[in-house]
Amino acid sequence: MTQAEWWKSAVIYQIYPRSFQDSNGDGIGDLKGIERRLDDLKSLGVDAIWISPIFPSPMADFGYDVANYCNVDPRFGTLDDFDSLLRSAHDRGLKLLLDLVPNHSSSEHPWFTESRSSRDNPKRDWYIWRDPAPDGGPPNNWISDFGGSAWEWDEATGQYYYHAFLKEQPDLNWRNPEVRAAMMDVLHFWFARGVDGFRIDVLWHMVKHADFPDNPANPAWRPGQPDYTRVHQHHSTDQPEVHEIAAEMRAIADAHGARVLIGEIYLPVRQLVHYYGSEDAPGVHLPFNFQLIGAEWNARQLAERIAAYEAALPPGGWPNWVLGNHDRPRIATRVGPEQARVAMLLLLTLRGTPTLYYGDEIGMADVHIPPHRVQDPRELNEPGIGMGRDPVRTPMAWDASAHAGFGPADPWLPLHPDWAARNVAAQREDSRSMWRLTQKLLALRHAHPALAIGDYRAVDATGDLLAYERRHGDDRVLVVLNLGATPQGFSIPEWAEALSVIASAQGGSDPAILGPDEGYVLG
Ligand code: GLC
Repeated sequence: MTQAEWWKSAVIYQIYPRSFQDSNGDGIGDLKGIERRLDDLKSLGVDAIWISPIFPSPMADFGYDVANYCNVDPRFGTLDDFDSLLRSAHDRGLKLLLDLVPNHSSSEHPWFTESRSSRDNPKRDWYIWRDPAPDGGPPNNWISDFGGSAWEWDEATGQYYYHAFLKEQPDLNWRNPEVRAAMMDVLHFWFARGVDGFRIDVLWHMVKHADFPDNPANPAWRPGQPDYTRVHQHHSTDQPEVHEIAAEMRAIADAHGARVLIGEIYLPVRQLVHYYGSEDAPGVHLPFNFQLIGAEWNARQLAERIAAYEAALPPGGWPNWVLGNHDRPRIATRVGPEQARVAMLLLLTLRGTPTLYYGDEIGMADVHIPPHRVQDPRELNEPGIGMGRDPVRTPMAWDASAHAGFGPADPWLPLHPDWAARNVAAQREDSRSMWRLTQKLLALRHAHPALAIGDYRAVDATGDLLAYERRHGDDRVLVVLNLGATPQGFSIPEWAEALSVIASAQGGSDPAILGPDEGYVLG
């Protein structure tokens, strides 16, 4: 591993900027707030932060609708604040990644204002405009990920435009070379400022079939399931040409040196691994692997998924793991607070770069949002079917002072109800806390090359147990996890008999009998 490949041994921490730390009392987190918390992150032991979008935005989708790719939204601060944050991060040896949203802009981006102004505007073709179907309806049956037709009628120019998400998020036309050039300039802009990489939003959406055929119907769809799953997104996503774009972005990242690109891609593993690209045309360094988000929490199923993912990786393809993010239910809610400790052991000991979602290090759960406080357009569009994302985006709890130390004012979303006890300050003092467990595991990753960059080998286990070896040269680590609520016996392989327990989920000391929700790291 070279210096340039820092991201292989790194642990990435995702910050949802609205909810991390408010410095100016508007109830919304900001860059100055993040800067103030860097020492906390450093003492936790993460290596890099990824910040969800901070660019000027009407906030129809809370920043994933970008109105200017090369500036900072005043709610989050200024470009100077950004530079200061970046400097402070680098001073502490922390890398900083931004969130690039290239698939679509805001409908208030000047590019779109021009594009929609007339059919012969030079930027008309920067977005995806189509004539109506013969009956006057939308050009095809594509459905927005947030529900309803993905086509919006524009009365003034008599055409529809395509939006994979909200109508306030028109998709850019990536088949147009001017669009490509403009977005590559955005990468240059931030790389030149010093950012260490990007998480690329909905990378698999970026190119659509050139002829816009109907998507095939999904016969398994049932009422109560999200609208977009009525069809398979066969023609609207994952088109072969997307890999050329990823390769072009990669070339820019490589030219700037020691940068990383992470692609957001929700696809089955066999399609996902194509986003690593080829030797001649490498794609993103890390196509996000959401296996642990999508899987049933069952030891045998997870063992199978880990094996399938490891087996599918192309030569040189570096793995990565994610347990939660700003779009999906939190791990503490999915598996319960005690099993969440086992999940943290898993995330931080598997082979590959882990991404940790803010708040998971204190075991924050999804927060119930009363109907009058719902903000997420996804919930507002399709209420009551569990698609809302506000519950996983609530403010971070730092201490037991007013508003949990998040800021001087009432935060934009409610705090989790147990914030007075479940917060960073309290957990720092409690040796059994989730924060301390996370801190310990991060320290172990730094101390053991086996954990940071070692090989992975499954170890025989049955029932609720999941076991594996990590190895780098002489450094060998055994991990055994009980994913269930009943005690499980485990026969320690001979090679590991001399190892000792270096971390455990519940504080136990006998890896031959794992209590409920217990897990061990031996090294
Ligand atoms: C990604 C983001 C999500 C956003 C969507 C549209 O999936 O993670 O939050 O709503 O893209 O940009």
